[in-house]
Amino acid sequence: MIVIDSVSKRFRKTVALDNVSFEVRNSEVVGYVGLNGTGKTTTIRIAVGVLPPDKGDVYIDGYSVLRDKKRASMFIGWVPELPIYEMDFRALDYFVYLAGYYGLSVGEARELGRKLLDEVGLGDALNKKLAEFSQGMKKRFALAVSMINNPPNFLFDEVLNGLDPQGIAFFRELAVKFRREGRAVLFSSHILSEVEGICDRVVFIHRGRIIGVYTMDEIRYRASPAIEIDLSKIDRDVFNILSKYGEPEVLNNNKVILRKPRSDTEVILSELVSRGIGVREVKRVEKSLEEFFFSLVKEAEEGR
Ligand SMILES: Nc1ncnc2c1ncn2[C@@H]1O[C@H](COP(=O)(O)OP(=O)(O)OP(=O)(O)O)[C@@H](O)[C@H]1O
Ligand SMILES: [Mg+2]
Repeated sequence: MIVIDSVSKRFRKTVALDNVSFEVRNSEVVGYVGLNGTGKTTTIRIAVGVLPPDKGDVYIDGYSVLRDKKRASMFIGWVPELPIYEMDFRALDYFVYLAGYYGLSVGEARELGRKLLDEVGLGDALNKKLAEFSQGMKKRFALAVSMINNPPNFLFDEVLNGLDPQGIAFFRELAVKFRREGRAVLFSSHILSEVEGICDRVVFIHRGRIIGVYTMDEIRYRASPAIEIDLSKIDRDVFNILSKYGEPEVLNNNKVILRKPRSDTEVILSELVSRGIGVREVKRVEKSLEEFFFSLVKEAEEGR
């Protein structure tokens, strides 16, 4: 379990994170979605202990990253956004070198390296120089390294960026497998639809602040087709009529949004009109997932 607890971070004048809190429970894949430069990578770097927060703390399976960094880092795997390596090394040799940090002997590390590099699809590239690795191969290598300790928690920072469809499918399936195994996975992305199929919940961040946390079901529901109706008045009767045709939600004194409509707009309209209810405007609305994301961003901007 990963707990981000009231974390703030500034870079000179830039407020990168402002009191950010959320958690990723075991057996859960959580999306971390925000536009470029909103603080996703900063959060993740603080969570793995490579960047100190100004305020707050992160707990990895209960271990404080500030007070017990060594132990906390043993329980978390990190696939960075832009993996940087000593490019002159060959893959397996570098894996063995990194595995030394975890206290593995050279023999153990070589054996584990062969197994993990094969598992991530790099079985044929054990002796290739990292300088010759493509972007996708570097991400796969970073993944193998993050798995050295078999950690129960993972942070994937924008791993799907720049991957081919096969690579995308590979990382998605892996996240789902990790969830099945009871691990906690945080999956950052700037595209909501990219994480849709794998996440249980999504934490939205904008300008260093959390602007919403929604389950994927909730997001799909809010992005599903609906009918927006502008009426002369809204009372119990109107609500009851609309409830026969879908799931009404009152937006304000005159506006209702009817989600999951079960009849054609005309049928609903004619019933309202025949009961003497004034209908001023009717609009079918259908948000894409990205429109849902942008509407959250817009609300946050307006509330600033
Ligand atoms: N080392 C640094 N020094 C100064 N400013 C930084 C540093 N790292 C990040 N920032 C700033 O902090 C803010 C958040 O950056 P961060 O990298 O966390 O965003 P992000 O959400 O990961 O973006 P992207 O989607 O582009 O990866 C940005 O304004 C960025 O310019
Ligand atoms: Mg980033």
